[in-house]
Amino acid sequence: MSRTPFIAGNWKMHKTIAEAERFIAALLPKVSSTDGVEIAICVPFLALQAMVDSARGSRVEVFAQTMHEAGEGAFTGEVSAAMLSEVGVTGVVLGHSERRELFGETDRSLQLKVPAALEAGLTPILCVGETEDERERGDTERKLRHQVQEGLEKVPRERLTEVVLAYEPIWAIGSGRVATPEQAQDAVAFVRALVAGFDKQAAAGVRILYGGSLKPDNAEELLGLPDVDGALAGGASLDPDSFARIVEIAQALAVA
Ligand code: PGA
Repeated sequence: MSRTPFIAGNWKMHKTIAEAERFIAALLPKVSSTDGVEIAICVPFLALQAMVDSARGSRVEVFAQTMHEAGEGAFTGEVSAAMLSEVGVTGVVLGHSERRELFGETDRSLQLKVPAALEAGLTPILCVGETEDERERGDTERKLRHQVQEGLEKVPRERLTEVVLAYEPIWAIGSGRVATPEQAQDAVAFVRALVAGFDKQAAAGVRILYGGSLKPDNAEELLGLPDVDGALAGGASLDPDSFARIVEIAQALAVA
């Protein structure tokens, strides 16, 4: 089954609305002729509406970086899936390691968030990955098994391919220490095998991204790996030139 490459940028807590508008104005002409690569930028809540307006009619989708699992309720500071889709957002990052580690996001809540996102018509990017300690202890697969199984547990089987997974080794995020191609391929193939545990056909169609210090310089070897279907780039997505370069590399590999 052929899988459309997916390049997502995760801005984290960067860019005001004015900065976001400057970014998208610079990015759009660079990716306007891109074909066959899905492109998304995951931006802070306050910049979502402006980004949706500026990117309308282009190839660039606008995603949020988190959401609450409930439809509505007494959850001060939170945002629901319906609120995101109302402004024209088409997807959301779920379970990023920074949300898990710094803001207490749990596998239990992700079990509800992933299907809630799908229900609202959003594409979830479910992030999984091990710490350096877990890798050194030989616990990488155990961690990934737990996170993937919990996160996908309540997703209807026929909708599994609508979920995008992102393998992000925590030790590689923002550290400049990128996973080796072998580490990335092994982990991503393992995640695909875990999806096969739910549904074999879905495993062939589901897209799995690599994230963690991915830059234009190392994108080709990572995006060229057989099981890696794209990237979730943090730092490299803040600059329109470097983000566009990653998109170009993905496109060149897709037509090769
Ligand atoms: P990085 O971040 O590319 O800056 O390492 C990736 C991420 O956290 O999604």
